[in-house]
Amino acid sequence: MDNPMKIAFSEIATPAKGVVAVVVTEERTLGATGRQLDEQTGGALSRALAAGRFKGKQGTSTTIVAPHGLDVDAVILVGLGKPGKIDGRGLRALGGSVVGKMNAAGAKAGAVAVDAVDGASIAPPAMAAEIALGARLGSYSFDKYHTKKKDEDKKSLGELTVMLDDPAAAEDAFTPNDNLADGVFLTRDMVSEPSNVKYPKTITEDIEALVEDGIEVEIFDREKMVGLGMGSLLGVAQGSEHEPYLAIMRWNGAPEGADAQPVAFIGKGVTFDTGGISIKPSQGMEEMKYDMAGAGTVVGLMKCLAGRKARVNVVGVVGLVENMPDGKAQRPGDVVTSMSGQTIEVINTDAEGRLVLADALWYTQETYKPQIMINLATLTGAIIICLGTYQAGLFSNNDELSERLIAAGKESGEEVWRMPLGERYDKDIDSAIADMKNVGKGREAGSVAAAQFLQRFVNGVPWAHLDIAGMAWMKRGDDPTVPKGASGYGVRLLDQLVRAHYEG
Ligand code: BES
Ligand code: MN
Ligand code: ZN
Repeated sequence: MDNPMKIAFSEIATPAKGVVAVVVTEERTLGATGRQLDEQTGGALSRALAAGRFKGKQGTSTTIVAPHGLDVDAVILVGLGKPGKIDGRGLRALGGSVVGKMNAAGAKAGAVAVDAVDGASIAPPAMAAEIALGARLGSYSFDKYHTKKKDEDKKSLGELTVMLDDPAAAEDAFTPNDNLADGVFLTRDMVSEPSNVKYPKTITEDIEALVEDGIEVEIFDREKMVGLGMGSLLGVAQGSEHEPYLAIMRWNGAPEGADAQPVAFIGKGVTFDTGGISIKPSQGMEEMKYDMAGAGTVVGLMKCLAGRKARVNVVGVVGLVENMPDGKAQRPGDVVTSMSGQTIEVINTDAEGRLVLADALWYTQETYKPQIMINLATLTGAIIICLGTYQAGLFSNNDELSERLIAAGKESGEEVWRMPLGERYDKDIDSAIADMKNVGKGREAGSVAAAQFLQRFVNGVPWAHLDIAGMAWMKRGDDPTVPKGASGYGVRLLDQLVRAHYEG
């Protein structure tokens, strides 16, 4: 993020410049600020409401440019929908789309008025905090490698003022959301970077910077991992000039008397995935720079949780490797021994994420005895075939954890869909020569086979695997809180999960 947009909260006033947004509920009902502006403009807002199709539906808006009687360049009427149905998700989308409209208009400053809404179950300060979160999330851009982009082609909005009767209460409610956006931005930045800039070593440097946030950081190099017997992870790294690392982050926020057993998050950090000797086709291979998004999400989540001083002990573990073909690279058919002692026949060197996670998961459960373990990985192309780019695949050995994740997905807007695990799928990864092989039956149930493989390394700990291959990089750009490119998917989901269930 190069030109971060600032958020400010203030009392309601008619702005003297920029663009102002006011809310409209169905059917065509202006809030208090809207009515005030309507008066100042001699009825321009009511005329706009009467003239067009816009009637205040959630997700819609209309713009009045250069309104007579006001100094602002434009008034945006944004739909809140039916008062009884206003929720956090809709408000965040509203915040993101207001920012999108203001940027499209080239506005440098903007304001949005948050009036109390009759019949809404959510009060203005909480509404403002959600709108501001959506606005920040939608303001993200990654422009650092454009040296010639004109200002007029960049996002223009430098500041958004959220106006309401109790700005101090809104500011308090917004603080944890602000930390959340910081975490999401860190993830997006890491994932956006190309692989010649972000490789295992440079990612460990980003992680070490989290010490500033009160996070304890430990970095294992190759030698340390050899000592631990992490042959599965190390086999993947064998063909790369870049040294592999395992990074461990700890946030100890649990209050005295609360559950001290940590919640653990584990991320796949393949900084570039060529496929190795089972090399990928060149078409689209550049996308494999985001194969470290699982690790990026864990890092952003740790920053968010530490930033808001979450009352829980958390451990984040990321396996950082590059998957390259080389004279030293591992071959199809090689057998490696994982830290768990289990042996793996590497049928396909492109099924490398599970090999990295096998050792990261085993290390995590053995070292920290976590109450739950959740791993994130851009693990399979097959999950994109199953679920597209609307929800991540959820695989779990625990129904309660699954239910919690599904609920957190609905609340945060980062949804998950539960996929099956089972004995017959598990059998598909048995190997003739080793304890298991790293692929199942070819293209059949490829995402399930990958999940079964991971399950052999969780040692019975309540665990969930999120296959985020379809979610980490957004080409759609139709979610106002997720600009095209690195989405930061998972930070909001898991922050919500922690907020709802794991804080003492
Ligand atoms: N990183 C890929 C999965 C992926 C694909 C992520 C598309 C994001 C977008 C993973 O390492 C991989 O290559 N998986 C293989 C597994 C196969 C060899 C069993 C796949 O999905 O084809
Ligand atoms: Mn691969
Ligand atoms: Zn991969």
